[in-house]
Amino acid sequence: MNRSMKSQWAVLLLIAISLLGCYKDEAALKKGPTPYQLNIPAGLPAMVIPADNPLTVEGVYLGRMLFYDPILSGNNTQSCGSCHLQQHGFTDGLKYSVGIDGIEGKRNSMPLINLGWQSSFFWDGGAADLESQALDPVVNPIEMHDTWENALSEIKAIPMYQHLFKKAFGIDEITVPFVVKAIAQFERTLISADSKYDQYKRGEAFLTPLELQGMDLFTDMSKGDCNHCHVLGSTFSDFAFRNTGLDSIPVDEGRYMITWNPSDKGKFKTPSLRNIALTAPYMHDGRFNTLLECVEHYNTGFHYATNLDPNLYTAQKGRMSQQEMEAIVAFMHTLTDENFMQNADFLPVR
Ligand code: HEC
Ligand code: HEC
Repeated sequence: MNRSMKSQWAVLLLIAISLLGCYKDEAALKKGPTPYQLNIPAGLPAMVIPADNPLTVEGVYLGRMLFYDPILSGNNTQSCGSCHLQQHGFTDGLKYSVGIDGIEGKRNSMPLINLGWQSSFFWDGGAADLESQALDPVVNPIEMHDTWENALSEIKAIPMYQHLFKKAFGIDEITVPFVVKAIAQFERTLISADSKYDQYKRGEAFLTPLELQGMDLFTDMSKGDCNHCHVLGSTFSDFAFRNTGLDSIPVDEGRYMITWNPSDKGKFKTPSLRNIALTAPYMHDGRFNTLLECVEHYNTGFHYATNLDPNLYTAQKGRMSQQEMEAIVAFMHTLTDENFMQNADFLPVR
């Protein structure tokens, strides 16, 4: 075979391969996206997924791309992942989050963990589902400060996204509802329930005497009484809104800003305590730097505010010794899930 014949064959082969590729792509598009097998660990209930946004392999992948893509922000410098970092349990480690214009917000970034079990989002529950939650940060002037019109036109200009949206949702025209659907799909995969505590529950690990003491105090109604709100096991929260007496007159009125019901003044969503050792600083305004400061707040620091939760109102100040507070902190450290932290599926796509 001479040289030109060889290259002719090579060209033919390339055409054949690309035709086959196209054929396979066409076939895959016809078949529709692949359902995503969500592994719900023992100890967590079934996840309620909206009927109009089932999880698919293609949708989760697209959501992961978008979550880490700074084109969703006004000057293309900030992505969702900038304020929700895996190494900080999907928070940013700051007291207040800082947006693209360098402006500080008034609230502490929230961990994105086990979101599929929550029915309201933000510290004040201002968003009812994950899909609508994702609408906010993109246009929030102290966060990504973009317009959806602009973000959408930038997404549309990238051929890869045209292709990925077609694969995930079968659509030719990318629209905002599909952008947030994809992000929500990715967020629902951020499941954490493999901490030392979980391994202990499954009989695979031991807790130290101090950690066990902390667990007892956590549920003991005359001591920690944490269990009333951060319910032991499962998601470690009932996600109800409560005033924990951080201030006698709340600076941030929390839930009240959403409902305008005076009995909601100073109430915030009870956060999960999973991976809590990784998400400092703490509370809606990041006022506490350590877990011990948090326990001290419940032991001695809380204020008798108007809407103070009855469980705290009746709690005796100073009911826990220093050693007991430290035991509760030790127990909270058993809620760190190393496998979740190291799961490469949650990192930006390389
Ligand atoms: C500038 C930093 C910043 C950026 C960028 C950002 N977030 Fe957040 N996120 C926060 C802060 C702060 C809160 C708490 C806000 C509040 O309660 O008012 C939050 C809350 C959330 C919550 C609520 C969690 C819960 O348990 O209620 C979700 C979900 C979330 N963000 C997802 C996203 C997504 C998706 C994006 C990208 C589209 C994004 N965030 C971009 C800082 C940020
Ligand atoms: C009455 C319900 C209630 C009780 C009891 C309670 N908590 Fe909380 N906890 C909350 C709420 C609500 C918040 C959020 C408060 C805020 O930021 O305004 C919170 C926040 C926290 C935080 C910070 C979480 C974060 O992501 O910043 C920690 C840590 C914590 N609680 C630990 C405990 C411990 C330990 C106990 C027991 C000693 C306890 N809590 C008792 C309702 C409660």
